[in-house]
Amino acid sequence: MAVANEAQSVFWEELAPAWLASESHTEMVSASFGRAAMDRLDLRAGQRVLDIGCGSGSTTLALAGLVAPGGEAVGIDIAPAMVTAATDHAKAAGVANATFLVADAQAADLSASSFDAAFSRFGVMFFADPPAAFTNIRAALRPGGTLAFACWSNLFANEWMFVPGAAAMSVTGSLPPMPGPGEPGPFSLDDPDRIELLLRDAGFVDIDVTAQPETIVIPRAEIESLVVLSSRVGAVAEALRTADAATAPRIVEAVRAALLERVEDDEVRLSAAAFVVRAHA
Ligand SMILES: C[S@@+](CC[C@H](N)C(=O)[O-])C[C@H]1O[C@@H](n2cnc3c(N)ncnc32)[C@H](O)[C@@H]1O
Repeated sequence: MAVANEAQSVFWEELAPAWLASESHTEMVSASFGRAAMDRLDLRAGQRVLDIGCGSGSTTLALAGLVAPGGEAVGIDIAPAMVTAATDHAKAAGVANATFLVADAQAADLSASSFDAAFSRFGVMFFADPPAAFTNIRAALRPGGTLAFACWSNLFANEWMFVPGAAAMSVTGSLPPMPGPGEPGPFSLDDPDRIELLLRDAGFVDIDVTAQPETIVIPRAEIESLVVLSSRVGAVAEALRTADAATAPRIVEAVRAALLERVEDDEVRLSAAAFVVRAHA
């Protein structure tokens, strides 16, 4: 396999067990953005669609349903553990027109012009060389084929990540290691102008970048699910990884307290914001 993103491959393979264990929690924050991007593909029966950074494959299975009968969804992910989980999910769900490959979307030979559409839910922000990656993705599409993806807006517009992260910082007194501007990471595509420029330079046309601000409403009784998600993935998880035995429970307690502090009318409301992007090859 051609891999240009070795560091991300290692990172995601190590994170995979925690990510997979948190799936129901990540769906809570990412499902509607993924659906909005999927809607923009206007898929029809018989088409071939690529799911970039497919994770455990829930979106690939949904795409497979949209192109049936006669079509195929191909999920690619740089982390073998994700691909194994996705393959297992497809088998368990009896979905025969979804296949999965371990592949780096930046470098893999994706068989030129073989896809009618390409999709990603939060899987395109982790490229070391985004121009090369989006050029490779464009080459995988037939002329006129459609790319649609969701990527996060900035951290401050995403209180569901910011509030737990700030609570962890209040205990550790330091920022968790963050990627620099434009470096691979959840916020590398948080600038709509940069997204448009990247896609135009990669040969895409008819580019539309739509901001989608949302509010996540979590009933008080389910706050623990965000505490768990934060403890497994992202800045809080990173703080916990390096915390000593005395500090770790204080971090978790600070996250819980920060969320409880925001409860009003028995629920907590947190912003979540992404860009939903559509372009043509
Ligand atoms: C935030 S997760 C999203 C997973 C899935 N799309 C979802 O919404 O649940 C990002 C995924 O992208 C994958 N990924 C990161 N860099 C990649 C690359 N260069 N090529 C293919 N997959 C990549 C990761 O392994 C991870 O599974």
